[in-house]
Amino acid sequence: MTRIILVGYMGSGKTTVGRQLAMALGVSFYDLDWYIEIRYRRSVSQIFREDGEEHFRQLEYNMLHEVAEFEDVVLSCGGGTPCYFDNMQYMNSLGETVYLKASPEVLAAHLKMARVERPLIKNKSGEELLTYIRESLSEREPFYMQAKHVINVDLLDNFEKIALTIDLLRRELGV
Ligand code: S3P
Repeated sequence: MTRIILVGYMGSGKTTVGRQLAMALGVSFYDLDWYIEIRYRRSVSQIFREDGEEHFRQLEYNMLHEVAEFEDVVLSCGGGTPCYFDNMQYMNSLGETVYLKASPEVLAAHLKMARVERPLIKNKSGEELLTYIRESLSEREPFYMQAKHVINVDLLDNFEKIALTIDLLRRELGV
């Protein structure tokens, strides 16, 4: 049974890498944010706006418990998922957790390329974004570092780089 759970900061490539890894392994791919959006029929931004972050974290916790029980999956979670409740411990008890570790500069570059709206950073750009990433990454990293595996990721701006990261991951996980 395969259950691989990707954690890491926003823009670390969890969704991109997770989707490709699942395809390579012939298992299903789930993205926790998308799962929340489908189950509650509201976007993550809408939930943040209408009910606030605390409520979002509760829904995220509930949905993590739903999807994390599925078998033969790659799951990518939200950047904040490992940092609330006992989520990181729970994920470690269920599968192979992997921290996709990227520098603040790489994260900022990815977030500038990404078109998806992210409520925590939507009004930040340039230096302000980089400062925010540096600060919140240092608070979050102790949680991310509890993952069973750590993979360094660089700027994933072409297919070749994505493929290299998948190779690295497969070697690390032995899958
Ligand atoms: C968040 C990351 C987002 C999403 C929400 C909050 C965070 O997911 O869950 O906007 O706290 O870092 P991604 O990491 O997939 O962008």
